[in-house]
Amino acid sequence: MLGRKKSVVGLDIGSSEVKALEFGKQGDRIVVAGLAIAKIESKDAMKETIREVIRMGNFKTKRVITAVSGRSVIMRYVNMLRMSDEDLHNAIRYEADKYIPFEVEETVLDCQRLEDPEAAGASDKEMKVLLVAVKRALIDEHYAMLQDVGVTPLIIDVDSFALGNAFELHNRYSPKVEDADRVVALIDIGANKTNINIVRGNTSYFTREVYLAGNDFTDSVSRRLKIDIAQAEVLKINSGERAAEVEECVLPTLDDLGNEIHLSFDYYENQFDREVDEVYISGGSSMLAGLDHSFERIFGRKVNFWNALENVEIRSDRVDQNLLQAKAHQFAVAAGLGARIDG
Ligand SMILES: Nc1ncnc2c1ncn2[C@@H]1O[C@H](COP(=O)(O)OP(=O)(O)OP(=O)(O)O)[C@@H](O)[C@H]1O
Ligand SMILES: [Mg+2]
Repeated sequence: MLGRKKSVVGLDIGSSEVKALEFGKQGDRIVVAGLAIAKIESKDAMKETIREVIRMGNFKTKRVITAVSGRSVIMRYVNMLRMSDEDLHNAIRYEADKYIPFEVEETVLDCQRLEDPEAAGASDKEMKVLLVAVKRALIDEHYAMLQDVGVTPLIIDVDSFALGNAFELHNRYSPKVEDADRVVALIDIGANKTNINIVRGNTSYFTREVYLAGNDFTDSVSRRLKIDIAQAEVLKINSGERAAEVEECVLPTLDDLGNEIHLSFDYYENQFDREVDEVYISGGSSMLAGLDHSFERIFGRKVNFWNALENVEIRSDRVDQNLLQAKAHQFAVAAGLGARIDG
Protein backbone atom coordinates (compact mmCIF):
# COMPACT_ATOMS: atom_id res chain seq x y z
CA MET A 1 0.00 0.00 0.00
CA LEU A 2 2.76 2.39 0.91
CA GLY A 3 4.42 1.97 -2.47
CA ARG A 4 1.28 2.87 -4.34
CA LYS A 5 1.42 6.56 -3.76
CA LYS A 6 4.73 6.59 -5.48
CA SER A 7 3.59 5.03 -8.72
CA VAL A 8 3.12 7.01 -11.87
CA VAL A 9 2.08 6.33 -15.47
CA GLY A 10 4.26 7.46 -18.36
CA LEU A 11 1.66 8.20 -21.04
CA ASP A 12 2.95 8.60 -24.60
CA ILE A 13 0.13 9.83 -26.81
CA GLY A 14 1.65 9.28 -30.24
CA SER A 15 -0.01 10.32 -33.47
CA SER A 16 -0.72 6.68 -34.26
CA GLU A 17 -0.55 4.69 -31.03
CA VAL A 18 -1.03 5.42 -27.34
CA LYS A 19 1.53 3.79 -25.05
CA ALA A 20 1.28 3.73 -21.27
CA LEU A 21 3.60 2.31 -18.66
CA GLU A 22 3.14 2.26 -14.92
CA PHE A 23 6.30 2.65 -12.87
CA GLY A 24 6.41 1.90 -9.18
CA LYS A 25 9.27 1.82 -6.69
CA GLN A 26 10.81 -1.06 -4.82
CA GLY A 27 13.07 0.68 -2.38
CA ASP A 28 15.15 2.94 -4.57
CA ARG A 29 14.63 0.93 -7.71
CA ILE A 30 12.07 1.57 -10.41
CA VAL A 31 9.87 -1.38 -11.40
CA VAL A 32 7.46 -1.72 -14.32
CA ALA A 33 4.06 -2.38 -12.75
CA GLY A 34 1.81 -2.22 -15.81
CA LEU A 35 1.79 -1.65 -19.52
CA ALA A 36 -0.68 -1.12 -22.36
CA ILE A 37 -0.75 0.04 -25.98
CA ALA A 38 -3.51 0.71 -28.52
CA LYS A 39 -3.82 2.12 -32.00
CA ILE A 40 -5.69 5.38 -32.58
CA GLU A 41 -8.06 4.43 -35.36
CA SER A 42 -9.08 8.00 -36.23
CA LYS A 43 -8.44 11.50 -34.95
CA ASP A 44 -11.88 11.51 -33.29
CA ALA A 45 -11.01 8.33 -31.43
CA MET A 46 -8.03 9.84 -29.57
CA LYS A 47 -9.70 10.31 -26.18
CA GLU A 48 -11.46 6.97 -26.35
CA THR A 49 -8.14 5.27 -27.16
CA ILE A 50 -6.46 6.89 -24.15
CA ARG A 51 -9.31 5.74 -21.90
CA GLU A 52 -9.01 2.25 -23.37
CA VAL A 53 -5.26 2.12 -22.73
CA ILE A 54 -5.75 3.24 -19.13
CA ARG A 55 -8.41 0.56 -18.71
CA MET A 56 -6.32 -2.17 -20.30
CA GLY A 57 -3.26 -1.30 -18.21
CA ASN A 58 -5.29 -1.76 -15.04
CA PHE A 59 -3.06 0.87 -13.45
CA LYS A 60 -3.14 1.58 -9.74
CA THR A 61 -2.75 5.33 -10.13
CA LYS A 62 -4.27 8.13 -12.17
CA ARG A 63 -1.14 10.26 -11.96
CA VAL A 64 0.42 10.59 -15.39
CA ILE A 65 3.46 12.19 -16.96
CA THR A 66 2.93 13.03 -20.61
CA ALA A 67 4.59 15.01 -23.36
CA VAL A 68 3.87 17.35 -26.21
CA SER A 69 5.70 17.46 -29.51
CA GLY A 70 5.43 18.93 -32.97
CA ARG A 71 5.78 22.32 -34.57
CA SER A 72 4.46 24.25 -31.56
CA VAL A 73 7.44 23.00 -29.55
CA ILE A 74 10.62 24.95 -30.28
CA MET A 75 14.01 23.80 -29.03
CA ARG A 76 17.09 25.91 -29.67
CA TYR A 77 20.67 25.79 -28.49
CA VAL A 78 21.85 29.36 -28.06
CA ASN A 79 25.05 31.05 -26.90
CA MET A 80 24.54 33.48 -24.03
CA LEU A 81 26.78 35.42 -21.71
CA ARG A 82 27.74 33.49 -18.61
CA MET A 83 25.35 34.37 -15.79
CA SER A 84 23.69 32.92 -12.70
CA ASP A 85 20.61 30.70 -13.04
CA GLU A 86 18.45 33.46 -11.65
CA ASP A 87 19.69 35.98 -14.20
CA LEU A 88 19.33 33.38 -16.92
CA HIS A 89 15.67 32.83 -16.10
CA ASN A 90 15.07 36.55 -16.33
CA ALA A 91 17.08 37.03 -19.49
CA ILE A 92 15.59 34.11 -21.37
CA ARG A 93 12.33 35.87 -22.26
CA TYR A 94 14.24 38.55 -24.18
CA GLU A 95 16.54 35.99 -25.74
CA ALA A 96 13.63 33.75 -26.75
CA ASP A 97 12.07 36.50 -28.78
CA LYS A 98 14.90 36.18 -31.32
CA TYR A 99 14.42 32.48 -31.85
CA ILE A 100 10.77 31.60 -31.70
CA PRO A 101 8.38 32.15 -34.57
CA PHE A 102 5.46 33.19 -32.35
CA GLU A 103 4.80 35.71 -29.57
CA VAL A 104 6.75 35.10 -26.35
CA GLU A 105 3.61 36.02 -24.41
CA GLU A 106 1.87 33.03 -25.97
CA THR A 107 4.51 30.54 -24.86
CA VAL A 108 5.69 28.65 -21.83
CA LEU A 109 9.47 28.92 -21.65
CA ASP A 110 12.10 26.80 -20.04
CA CYS A 111 15.86 26.74 -20.30
CA GLN A 112 18.85 24.78 -19.16
CA ARG A 113 22.53 25.63 -19.29
CA LEU A 114 24.82 23.10 -20.95
CA GLU A 115 28.00 23.04 -18.99
CA ASP A 116 30.56 22.05 -21.51
CA PRO A 117 33.54 24.34 -21.39
CA GLU A 118 35.23 22.33 -24.17
CA ALA A 119 32.46 22.98 -26.64
CA ALA A 120 33.21 24.95 -29.76
CA GLY A 121 32.07 28.51 -29.14
CA ALA A 122 32.28 28.10 -25.36
CA SER A 123 34.47 30.60 -23.60
CA ASP A 124 34.89 32.12 -20.16
CA LYS A 125 32.37 34.71 -21.20
CA GLU A 126 29.81 32.53 -22.93
CA MET A 127 27.77 29.45 -22.27
CA LYS A 128 25.47 27.29 -24.34
CA VAL A 129 21.86 27.23 -23.23
CA LEU A 130 19.04 24.97 -24.30
CA LEU A 131 15.90 27.00 -24.78
CA VAL A 132 12.49 25.31 -24.93
CA ALA A 133 9.36 27.20 -25.87
CA VAL A 134 5.95 25.59 -26.11
CA LYS A 135 2.82 27.36 -27.27
CA ARG A 136 0.66 27.86 -24.21
CA ALA A 137 -2.43 26.89 -26.22
CA LEU A 138 -0.93 23.46 -26.91
CA ILE A 139 -0.31 22.83 -23.21
CA ASP A 140 -3.77 24.09 -22.23
CA GLU A 141 -5.39 21.87 -24.83
CA HIS A 142 -3.33 18.88 -23.75
CA TYR A 143 -4.12 19.49 -20.08
CA ALA A 144 -7.86 19.80 -20.77
CA MET A 145 -7.86 16.57 -22.77
CA LEU A 146 -6.11 14.67 -19.97
CA GLN A 147 -8.55 15.94 -17.39
CA ASP A 148 -11.37 14.97 -19.67
CA VAL A 149 -10.14 11.38 -19.85
CA GLY A 150 -9.91 11.31 -16.06
CA VAL A 151 -6.19 11.31 -15.39
CA THR A 152 -4.10 13.75 -13.36
CA PRO A 153 -1.19 15.22 -15.26
CA LEU A 154 1.84 15.82 -13.03
CA ILE A 155 4.34 16.90 -15.65
CA ILE A 156 4.05 17.77 -19.33
CA ASP A 157 7.39 17.01 -20.96
CA VAL A 158 8.68 16.97 -24.54
CA ASP A 159 9.05 13.70 -26.54
CA SER A 160 12.73 14.08 -27.40
CA PHE A 161 13.77 14.79 -23.81
CA ALA A 162 11.81 11.75 -22.69
CA LEU A 163 13.86 9.73 -25.16
CA GLY A 164 17.03 10.98 -23.44
CA ASN A 165 15.61 10.14 -20.01
CA ALA A 166 14.78 6.63 -21.20
CA PHE A 167 18.39 6.14 -22.20
CA GLU A 168 19.55 7.40 -18.83
CA LEU A 169 17.22 4.88 -17.15
CA HIS A 170 18.56 2.11 -19.39
CA ASN A 171 22.14 2.98 -18.41
CA ARG A 172 21.34 3.45 -14.73
CA TYR A 173 20.43 -0.23 -14.41
CA SER A 174 22.82 -1.58 -17.01
CA PRO A 175 24.85 -4.54 -15.76
CA LYS A 176 27.66 -3.47 -18.13
CA VAL A 177 30.02 -0.64 -17.36
CA GLU A 178 29.40 1.83 -20.15
CA ASP A 179 31.74 4.61 -21.16
CA ALA A 180 29.82 7.54 -19.66
CA ASP A 181 31.50 10.03 -21.95
CA ARG A 182 30.50 8.40 -25.26
CA VAL A 183 28.30 10.40 -27.60
CA VAL A 184 25.10 8.57 -28.45
CA ALA A 185 22.51 9.50 -31.05
CA LEU A 186 19.04 8.34 -30.07
CA ILE A 187 16.60 8.17 -32.96
CA ASP A 188 12.91 7.40 -32.43
CA ILE A 189 11.01 6.83 -35.66
CA GLY A 190 7.26 7.05 -35.11
CA ALA A 191 4.36 7.55 -37.50
CA ASN A 192 4.37 11.29 -38.03
CA LYS A 193 7.86 12.26 -36.98
CA THR A 194 11.36 11.14 -36.16
CA ASN A 195 12.95 12.41 -32.98
CA ILE A 196 16.68 12.87 -32.71
CA ASN A 197 18.45 13.40 -29.41
CA ILE A 198 22.24 13.40 -29.20
CA VAL A 199 23.39 12.78 -25.64
CA ARG A 200 26.73 12.65 -23.92
CA GLY A 201 26.68 11.35 -20.37
CA ASN A 202 23.24 12.31 -19.12
CA THR A 203 23.11 15.62 -20.96
CA SER A 204 21.32 16.23 -24.20
CA TYR A 205 23.38 18.36 -26.61
CA PHE A 206 21.16 18.37 -29.65
CA THR A 207 17.52 17.59 -30.30
CA ARG A 208 15.41 17.87 -33.38
CA GLU A 209 12.18 16.56 -34.85
CA VAL A 210 12.11 15.59 -38.52
CA TYR A 211 8.68 15.26 -40.08
CA LEU A 212 9.42 12.11 -42.03
CA ALA A 213 8.41 8.74 -40.55
CA GLY A 214 6.04 5.77 -40.78
CA ASN A 215 3.19 7.57 -42.53
CA ASP A 216 5.58 8.62 -45.27
CA PHE A 217 6.76 5.02 -45.73
CA THR A 218 3.13 3.94 -46.02
CA ASP A 219 2.50 6.71 -48.57
CA SER A 220 5.44 5.53 -50.65
CA VAL A 221 4.12 1.95 -50.69
CA SER A 222 0.63 3.18 -51.56
CA ARG A 223 1.85 5.39 -54.41
CA ARG A 224 4.31 2.95 -55.93
CA LEU A 225 2.02 -0.08 -55.79
CA LYS A 226 -1.19 1.88 -56.47
CA ILE A 227 -3.01 0.50 -53.44
CA ASP A 228 -4.92 2.47 -50.80
CA ILE A 229 -3.32 3.68 -47.57
CA ALA A 230 -4.95 1.03 -45.37
CA GLN A 231 -3.71 -1.79 -47.61
CA ALA A 232 -0.27 -0.20 -47.86
CA GLU A 233 -0.03 0.04 -44.06
CA VAL A 234 -0.81 -3.68 -43.69
CA LEU A 235 1.61 -4.66 -46.42
CA LYS A 236 4.37 -2.43 -44.98
CA ILE A 237 4.13 -4.13 -41.58
CA ASN A 238 3.56 -7.70 -42.76
CA SER A 239 5.39 -7.74 -46.04
CA GLY A 240 6.30 -11.47 -45.86
CA GLU A 241 7.18 -12.69 -49.35
CA ARG A 242 6.85 -9.18 -50.73
CA ALA A 243 9.54 -7.74 -48.44
CA ALA A 244 11.95 -6.94 -51.27
CA GLU A 245 9.22 -5.10 -53.16
CA VAL A 246 8.24 -3.05 -50.08
CA GLU A 247 11.88 -2.24 -49.36
CA GLU A 248 12.27 -0.91 -52.88
CA CYS A 249 9.18 1.31 -52.49
CA VAL A 250 10.38 2.91 -49.26
CA LEU A 251 14.05 3.26 -50.19
CA PRO A 252 13.94 6.87 -51.50
CA THR A 253 12.03 8.03 -48.38
CA LEU A 254 14.42 6.12 -46.14
CA ASP A 255 17.35 7.78 -47.86
CA ASP A 256 15.78 11.22 -47.34
CA LEU A 257 15.28 10.50 -43.66
CA GLY A 258 18.75 9.02 -43.21
CA ASN A 259 20.32 12.06 -44.89
CA GLU A 260 18.35 14.48 -42.69
CA ILE A 261 19.52 12.64 -39.57
CA HIS A 262 23.07 12.59 -40.85
CA LEU A 263 22.95 16.40 -41.20
CA SER A 264 22.14 16.58 -37.48
CA PHE A 265 25.22 14.45 -36.73
CA ASP A 266 27.31 16.88 -38.81
CA TYR A 267 25.86 19.82 -36.95
CA TYR A 268 26.63 18.29 -33.54
CA GLU A 269 30.12 17.27 -34.63
CA ASN A 270 30.90 20.78 -35.86
CA GLN A 271 29.48 22.51 -32.80
CA PHE A 272 31.11 20.30 -30.21
CA ASP A 273 34.12 18.97 -32.07
CA ARG A 274 33.22 15.40 -31.08
CA GLU A 275 32.03 12.48 -33.14
CA VAL A 276 28.80 10.62 -32.64
CA ASP A 277 30.07 7.29 -31.31
CA GLU A 278 26.93 5.16 -31.31
CA VAL A 279 23.45 5.12 -32.81
CA TYR A 280 20.37 3.64 -31.13
CA ILE A 281 16.99 3.40 -32.84
CA SER A 282 13.50 2.96 -31.40
CA GLY A 283 9.88 3.70 -32.31
CA GLY A 284 7.41 1.60 -34.28
CA SER A 285 9.01 2.43 -37.61
CA SER A 286 12.46 1.26 -36.47
CA MET A 287 11.06 -2.17 -37.33
CA LEU A 288 10.67 -1.29 -41.00
CA ALA A 289 12.43 -3.91 -43.11
CA GLY A 290 15.73 -2.55 -44.40
CA LEU A 291 15.74 0.61 -42.29
CA ASP A 292 18.74 -0.34 -40.17
CA HIS A 293 20.81 -1.27 -43.22
CA SER A 294 19.92 1.92 -45.06
CA PHE A 295 20.91 3.97 -42.04
CA GLU A 296 24.15 2.03 -41.62
CA ARG A 297 25.03 2.75 -45.23
CA ILE A 298 24.29 6.48 -44.85
CA PHE A 299 25.83 7.01 -41.39
CA GLY A 300 28.82 4.73 -41.91
CA ARG A 301 28.17 3.40 -38.39
CA LYS A 302 26.50 0.43 -36.80
CA VAL A 303 22.84 1.04 -35.94
CA ASN A 304 21.64 -0.63 -32.72
CA PHE A 305 18.12 -1.53 -31.70
CA TRP A 306 17.45 -1.02 -28.02
CA ASN A 307 14.80 -1.73 -25.45
CA ALA A 308 14.47 1.03 -22.87
CA LEU A 309 13.03 -1.45 -20.33
CA GLU A 310 15.66 -4.13 -20.82
CA ASN A 311 17.44 -3.45 -17.53
CA VAL A 312 14.39 -2.48 -15.49
CA GLU A 313 12.68 -5.01 -13.26
CA ILE A 314 9.29 -6.11 -14.58
CA ARG A 315 6.45 -7.25 -12.34
CA SER A 316 5.49 -10.45 -14.11
CA ASP A 317 2.15 -10.62 -12.27
CA ARG A 318 1.12 -7.29 -13.78
CA VAL A 319 2.81 -7.12 -17.16
CA ASP A 320 2.05 -9.22 -20.24
CA GLN A 321 5.57 -10.34 -21.15
CA ASN A 322 4.64 -11.30 -24.71
CA LEU A 323 3.19 -7.88 -25.37
CA LEU A 324 6.26 -6.25 -23.91
CA GLN A 325 8.61 -8.35 -26.02
CA ALA A 326 6.68 -7.61 -29.21
CA LYS A 327 6.35 -3.86 -28.64
CA ALA A 328 9.34 -2.96 -26.45
CA HIS A 329 10.89 -0.68 -29.09
CA GLN A 330 7.72 1.46 -29.05
CA PHE A 331 7.94 2.21 -25.32
CA ALA A 332 11.07 4.37 -25.23
CA VAL A 333 9.23 7.68 -24.86
CA ALA A 334 6.74 6.27 -22.30
CA ALA A 335 9.68 4.85 -20.32
CA GLY A 336 11.45 8.20 -20.29
CA LEU A 337 8.28 9.93 -19.12
CA GLY A 338 7.69 7.42 -16.33
CA ALA A 339 11.35 7.65 -15.32
CA ARG A 340 10.60 11.14 -14.02
CA ILE A 341 8.94 9.38 -11.08
CA ASP A 342 12.16 10.36 -9.29
CA GLY A 343 11.49 14.04 -9.92
N1 LIG B 1 6.83 -3.99 -38.10
C1 LIG B 1 6.73 -2.72 -38.53
N2 LIG B 1 7.34 -2.36 -39.67
C2 LIG B 1 7.25 -1.10 -40.14
N3 LIG B 1 6.58 -0.12 -39.53
C3 LIG B 1 5.96 -0.43 -38.39
C4 LIG B 1 5.99 -1.72 -37.82
N4 LIG B 1 5.26 -1.73 -36.69
C5 LIG B 1 4.80 -0.47 -36.54
N5 LIG B 1 5.20 0.32 -37.56
C6 LIG B 1 4.90 1.74 -37.77
O1 LIG B 1 5.24 2.42 -36.56
C7 LIG B 1 4.43 3.58 -36.43
C8 LIG B 1 3.92 3.63 -35.01
O2 LIG B 1 5.04 3.73 -34.15
P1 LIG B 1 5.01 4.63 -32.84
O3 LIG B 1 4.04 4.08 -31.89
O4 LIG B 1 6.42 4.73 -32.40
O5 LIG B 1 4.49 6.00 -33.44
P2 LIG B 1 3.75 7.20 -32.67
O6 LIG B 1 4.44 7.44 -31.38
O7 LIG B 1 2.30 6.94 -32.61
O8 LIG B 1 4.01 8.38 -33.72
P3 LIG B 1 4.66 9.82 -33.51
O9 LIG B 1 5.72 9.72 -32.44
O10 LIG B 1 5.24 10.13 -34.85
O11 LIG B 1 3.54 10.72 -33.14
C9 LIG B 1 3.34 3.48 -37.48
O12 LIG B 1 3.64 4.37 -38.54
C10 LIG B 1 3.44 2.03 -37.96
O13 LIG B 1 3.10 1.90 -39.32
MG1 LIG C 1 6.05 8.65 -30.78
